[in-house]
Amino acid sequence: MLTIENTVQLREQIRRYKQAGKTIGFVPTMGNLHQGHLTLVRKAKELADVVIVSIFVNPMQFGNPDDLQNYPRTVEQDIALLEDLGTELVFTPTPEIMYPKGLDKQTFVEVPLLSNMLEGASRPGHFRGVATIVTKLFNLVSPDVACFGEKDFQQVAVIRQMVEDLAMDIDIVPVPTVREQDGLAMSSRNNRLTEDERKIAPAVATIMHEMADRLLLEPLDSKAVISFGELRLKEVGMTPDELFIRDADTLQDITTEAKNAVILMAAFLGSVRLIDNKIIQLS
Ligand code: PAF
Repeated sequence: MLTIENTVQLREQIRRYKQAGKTIGFVPTMGNLHQGHLTLVRKAKELADVVIVSIFVNPMQFGNPDDLQNYPRTVEQDIALLEDLGTELVFTPTPEIMYPKGLDKQTFVEVPLLSNMLEGASRPGHFRGVATIVTKLFNLVSPDVACFGEKDFQQVAVIRQMVEDLAMDIDIVPVPTVREQDGLAMSSRNNRLTEDERKIAPAVATIMHEMADRLLLEPLDSKAVISFGELRLKEVGMTPDELFIRDADTLQDITTEAKNAVILMAAFLGSVRLIDNKIIQLS
């Protein structure tokens, strides 16, 4: 497996793959890899000849400097996991390589329709940071296909919209969320839960199931279902942060036309913000 830090070497290697007629599958990550990421890599391997993974904690998508600083960095361990999976290349750039002139002088990409709603409303600039870095990585890696976890539902929607709007010739493949046996969605943040919090955390998934059952009875009464979800989160000791029920295809409010709904949930358990989502077929 090749580990490359600079863009010149990366481009040379990409050229070699392309000249050899290889298709490229790409998995962008911020490292601290868990089974969820490894599932994305396995999916990319199924879909392309060569798999490239990037590990880059992207400062542009963090609003809070403490969150950026405290983000777990486990590059050596990540590289070992990727090597075991037969990944061909890992790209591990530094912030200076990705943003040589600094963040404030960096050209950015914004997806206005989807970036400032839901999760984006409480994290201004987050999806701009995601769209910008993903564009830059796409331009460097030139993948045929790129895999993203459905756990970050809005992120996938933003990236799909960006790829469509900017006519990027890349297949975006959403991969279902990988869960622990007790239903907790895998996430790097789970490592920050205390032992007691870890026992409570699967309630996020359970409560979404309960909400889904209610929604199926009354699809247009999402307000009541949200209130129920908030109440249940508080009952188990969590603080609801964001709770939305939207049309899964448009991320707008549910209408009679909606085929699928999505529950988008973010809740604090102690200092850890857990996020999850659930798609519900309505018709
Ligand atoms: O999902 C993530 O880990 C990040 O948002 C991504 C897509 C790697 C961009 O930094």
